[in-house]
Amino acid sequence: MKIKKNFSIKDFNTFSVDVKAKYFVEISDIDELKKILKDFSNEKKIFLGEGTNTLFVKDWDGIVVKINFLGKEIVNENENNIFVKVNAGENWSDFVDWAVEKNYAGIEGMVMIPGTLGGAVTQSIGAYGQEVKDVLSSIEVLDIEKHKIFKLKPEECDFSYRYSNFKGDWKNKYIVIASTVRLDKGPSLYSLAYSKKYGRYKSVYEDLEKMVGDKYTIQDFAQAIKRQREKKLPDLEEFGSCGSFFKNPVVDFKKYEELEQKIPDLQPYPLDNLGEKWFKIPAGKLLDELGLKGYWNDNVGVFEKHALCIVTNKNASGTEIVDLANRMKKSVEKNYGVELVEEVDVLPKHFST
Ligand code: EPU
Repeated sequence: MKIKKNFSIKDFNTFSVDVKAKYFVEISDIDELKKILKDFSNEKKIFLGEGTNTLFVKDWDGIVVKINFLGKEIVNENENNIFVKVNAGENWSDFVDWAVEKNYAGIEGMVMIPGTLGGAVTQSIGAYGQEVKDVLSSIEVLDIEKHKIFKLKPEECDFSYRYSNFKGDWKNKYIVIASTVRLDKGPSLYSLAYSKKYGRYKSVYEDLEKMVGDKYTIQDFAQAIKRQREKKLPDLEEFGSCGSFFKNPVVDFKKYEELEQKIPDLQPYPLDNLGEKWFKIPAGKLLDELGLKGYWNDNVGVFEKHALCIVTNKNASGTEIVDLANRMKKSVEKNYGVELVEEVDVLPKHFST
């Protein structure tokens, strides 16, 4: 474990923003984590996985701790399920690939989401109708102050759409060190006729139909998702990006009706808990309607294939990115009266868009 001083973290955030951390360290086990917490107790701390959802606007006046806890193991099994404990530093998508190959279902729709298991839990990731919060059976954390390790149940963590307590009140209280994921030993063949009911992901099912016909496996499904994501989302080798920059907003029925008049084929998302009075609508569509797709200004732009993704040429500063985000927000507010809220963690907080 080597502490680096005044260290550029350009290679440790996927926006490739060139800011400096007063201290930077990579840790690979709990003992190292405890030592860092003790030795740097008076410093501001940020814990990173692969830096896929964090935008640094200024140098970090504290320590950046990159968590590299690797490894996974099957910890339990019954007739229908398999329980896998995955350490926080494991790459999420590699884990999905592993599960899909073994025919364990429940997370195949979340393949190719960048980042680590710890990031996936903290950020409450989801895609194509699946949410990580629905497959967690427990979350193992370390208490930053007391240095104690314990397990939390998902219902204790306030998981919702792109939110968990780990992002909120517990940001400086607990560090996710591992989670146990519950996977299904489900049927190996799924019927496309049944899946077609879910109109929102029509493009995925059309692709499946073309590629494999009426019956598909989770391996086929994961491949279809990979093709979708490759088509629509920025390649992090080529661009600086954190994927979706904003969350999809929730609006009331009156606003929804008003938007539906202006935007054909708005396609709201189903909302589980909020009933019929509220509608979650695709922010990408609003931004696209405003003609922002493909907009580019110096080092930063809006991805040409998806208006919810801010992209850079990997030379942009955090301020340039935040400025563009602010302009996008203002435009949506002015034209549609809808407030966009960032999904990406902008640091420091007062620079938030
Ligand atoms: N759309 C447009 N133009 C655009 C972008 C989108 O018209 O430029 C339309 C699409 O045609 C579609 C709708 O907007 O009808 C929604 O687009 P998409 O299916 O791409 O989903 P999204 O709501 O933009 C969310 C997640 C993604 C996740 C996808 C797939 C958020 C903030 N983002 O995107 O997650 O991959 O659904 O399930 O919820 C991420 O969080 O970084 C991320 C990529």
